[in-house]
Amino acid sequence: MSANKKAADTRRVAVDSSISDDGIDPKRRRLLVGGMATTAGLGAGALGVSMLASMSPSARAKAAGAPVEADISKLAPGQLLTVEWRGKPVWIVRRTEQALGSLSSVASQLADPDSIEEQQPEYAQNESRAIKDEYLVVIGICTHLGCSPTYRPDIAASDLGSDWEGGFFCPCHGSKFDYAGRVYSGVPAPTNLEVPPYMYLDDNRIIIGEDDGVAA
Ligand code: FES
Repeated sequence: MSANKKAADTRRVAVDSSISDDGIDPKRRRLLVGGMATTAGLGAGALGVSMLASMSPSARAKAAGAPVEADISKLAPGQLLTVEWRGKPVWIVRRTEQALGSLSSVASQLADPDSIEEQQPEYAQNESRAIKDEYLVVIGICTHLGCSPTYRPDIAASDLGSDWEGGFFCPCHGSKFDYAGRVYSGVPAPTNLEVPPYMYLDDNRIIIGEDDGVAA
């Protein structure tokens, strides 16, 4: 993990612990998975070490953040699959033609449509922010204060506006993201959702946390 990333995760832990009394309806706040994950990673104290030592080798590898494999063979168009990597939810969305078409039509409403900010590996710095356009792979944690956004494929949803073309909505403070996890302008979240390192093992299997044979 880079120093910047660790610093960001550390900030998230700090932020998570500070938002318990901020007035957010607890039923709407989903998250805090990022904080939980990084707490495990950062808290390498005696308790954490002894817990790891008592785990099986595979459980130990998973807890330490080993890459995880996802089977996408049964993912239908429009469906979202969640897998856990380093304690964080990683979403895999099989985008429909409509979803892919929306990527260009909403671009003028986005804060960083070209993904200039380093929120993705180089191979995902494109319009669909993906290796294969059809499948989005993104960490499901809001870049504002770490809530978990909801998947909102419902076009023109009454609470999101008649021009809503689908994507993700964070109910904590109203941030909106398009079908590539790109953040809309004028919302609290400062950056696009993060794309983790990943690669295809074959057409039906994705490995998250590793690319070109190198674990992140
Ligand atoms: S955590 Fe504030 S908008 Fe998502």
